[in-house]
Amino acid sequence: MLRALGLLALFAVAAATALPLSSDYVLTPAGYQHSSCVHGVPAGSEVVRSDEGLTLIHPDGTIIRKDKCSYPTFNSMREVKQAAAAGGAVGGNRVLINDDGNVEETANGWQAYTKQNAGNVTAYLGTFNIPAAPQDYNGQTIFFFTGLQNIDWVPPQTRPSEGFDIIQPVAQYGPSSAGGGNYWTLSSWYVTLGTGTVWSPLIRINANDTIFGNMTRTGPESWYINSLDQTLNQKTDITVTKSLLTTQPWIYNTLEVYELSKCTHFPAAPNNVLNFRNLALYVSGQLTSANWQIGTDGQNPPLCSAVAKINSPVSVDIVF
Ligand SMILES: *[C@@H]1O[C@H](CO)[C@@H](O)[C@H](O)[C@H]1NC(C)=O
Ligand SMILES: *[C@@H]1O[C@H](CO)[C@@H](O)[C@H](O)[C@H]1NC(C)=O
Ligand SMILES: *[C@@H]1O[C@H](CO)[C@@H](O)[C@H](O)[C@H]1NC(C)=O
Repeated sequence: MLRALGLLALFAVAAATALPLSSDYVLTPAGYQHSSCVHGVPAGSEVVRSDEGLTLIHPDGTIIRKDKCSYPTFNSMREVKQAAAAGGAVGGNRVLINDDGNVEETANGWQAYTKQNAGNVTAYLGTFNIPAAPQDYNGQTIFFFTGLQNIDWVPPQTRPSEGFDIIQPVAQYGPSSAGGGNYWTLSSWYVTLGTGTVWSPLIRINANDTIFGNMTRTGPESWYINSLDQTLNQKTDITVTKSLLTTQPWIYNTLEVYELSKCTHFPAAPNNVLNFRNLALYVSGQLTSANWQIGTDGQNPPLCSAVAKINSPVSVDIVF
């Protein structure tokens, strides 16, 4: 009898941790998240974050509620597969370690970036270029963006214990949960760990286009995020309201990648430079000179010696 009870208890634990993993995981700009935690919305939608999860308000008034998500997140597809092989019992707090105990050979996470804790940020605007396509395409994903976060957490660092979120206009090459493939795309994202992730419609863009990213506080707890392709005159935007978090002090310019394993997975020189320019930081409503620092918490060493260079408060290059 006792033995049977013990077996039952074991069974209950196994059932509780046996998450349906591998095939249900999709890529976001904060790593791999369960497909039930990530949501696309029409352009112009509003996203409201609360303790319970997300409320998605479409421009036509449709309201959709999404519960808080309890699935772990992962830094690489290898981690997803390892967790699946372990019956889903592996938590999200993993670094990039391969089967031999060495650092994984594919690059996953932030490669090069600049950052600043700018305090009461009320807007962060910036322009960036779209480079040529990668030399070789093998299903890898390149993201780059300007972004605002509540805390200074960077993938592939260990997952933070406190709530995390980022708002970001994102250029993307390759696939993500929002779609994409062997071409450049653009979308506005609101990404959390555990509360849910939302993207605006992915629009197809071209090499040499100029992108303008607009993150502007529109209320005490609300942010407007717009990704505008100025060459095509097309935008994809969302508004986010966070009842929990009123500040978004950390500002970034970032190159992030997933499943890249060689330098030719990047665009070739002379298209190996992202130039973030006309950077405009507003603190307490005032245009303020940024004081960039080179970030060092991304993947170390980065693939192909990717590096950020501060040209001035309004211009940053990332070379790869
Ligand atoms: C991008 O601009 C460069 C320099 O003007 C040019 O050589 C290249 O062909 C352009 N690429 C595309 C895809 O238009
Ligand atoms: C950025 O977005 C805000 C909020 O919608 C808007 O008021 C502002 O004009 C935009 N800035 C630019 C330069 O487009
Ligand atoms: C941040 O700046 C806005 C705009 O100037 C101001 O209304 C708000 O009170 C400031 N918040 C804090 C915490 O200083």
